[in-house]
Amino acid sequence: MNMNFFAPVNIVTGKGCIGKNTDEFKKYGKKCIIVTGKYGAKSSGALGDVVLALESVGTEYIIFDRIEQNPSYASCKEAAEMAKESGAEFVVGIGGGSALDAAKAIAVLTASADTSAKTLYSMDWDREPLPIIAVGTTAGTGSEVTPVSVITTPEGMKKSFRAPSLYPVTAFGDATYTMSMSADFTRSTALDALCHCMESYFNRSANDISRTFAVRGVEILVRMLEKTVTCDTVPLTFDEREEIYCASLYGGLAISVTGTAFAHALGYFLSEQYNICHGNACAVYLEEFINYNAEVAPDEADGFFAKIGCDKDTLINLIRKNLPDTEIKLTPEKINELAPRYEDNKSMKKCYGNADREFAVKLLNKMFV
Ligand SMILES: [Fe+2]
Repeated sequence: MNMNFFAPVNIVTGKGCIGKNTDEFKKYGKKCIIVTGKYGAKSSGALGDVVLALESVGTEYIIFDRIEQNPSYASCKEAAEMAKESGAEFVVGIGGGSALDAAKAIAVLTASADTSAKTLYSMDWDREPLPIIAVGTTAGTGSEVTPVSVITTPEGMKKSFRAPSLYPVTAFGDATYTMSMSADFTRSTALDALCHCMESYFNRSANDISRTFAVRGVEILVRMLEKTVTCDTVPLTFDEREEIYCASLYGGLAISVTGTAFAHALGYFLSEQYNICHGNACAVYLEEFINYNAEVAPDEADGFFAKIGCDKDTLINLIRKNLPDTEIKLTPEKINELAPRYEDNKSMKKCYGNADREFAVKLLNKMFV
């Protein structure tokens, strides 16, 4: 039996959940730093709701709204310096994966005397990170319920770190904030959630609980990905947006147990170097990931498709319909340059079979040369 599970997040969901739970904003101190990107937190209405909640309970705040896509160590350090100077006692991250992952790094760098990049990624912190309240405005990342953060290093590589102290203390999930997402971003983020569920299910660290979450997430996404295909012309309803949000939380809870697998590992360079949205960058590998697991773990794959009530070809077809065309071409030299990333790679090692450096090189050649 393996049902080990630890996810100490107060998950608060539903329409208007911030306004109905303002006390959450006075539990962790008298002053906070709000961390967001340039637009999403404002246009979604989430920032306005958080500010109202903070003001209603008399908690002071400062705002850092310069978190970029694929957030950099430099921005996190800048925000942490601002937080330190202001005496912030907790961090409120509002956004998609970028702002929420940045909030985790800022929580570490604000608390720690040593704010070097080396220390951040080493997880050898001299003090516990500040408490983090996470407000999701996209439905895909699941970062609001994970202890993981992915921050771009000063050398330009996406790199993750994880620690139990990085679980947000509270995660607010109100799908209202996802209503203003563009159709392209809705598809990309939903595909990110699908990757999380799939990569968690077909994962050496999976257990009964993570698989239950993963299956539930995929069941929802199989239905919703039919709708996202046409959401440019037939907008999703609130209830449909809420379902996708639920799936993203299931995906987050699943990877909080297992971590991701090769779709994420191989997707990072596409975001760093070719400006492909995170969800699409990972989902571009999902078809290969499904076929790979059907071959190396046929019993697991049969069990999975029986549970989700959808066959392999239908799922692959749904993924294809939601992915934009990509024109990425790589030279064999470029692939050789990327290859060292996949040596002893944590996420590759989580895969069934033998997804090693040689496998990665072969797959990149097959897909992009
Ligand atoms: Fe992801």
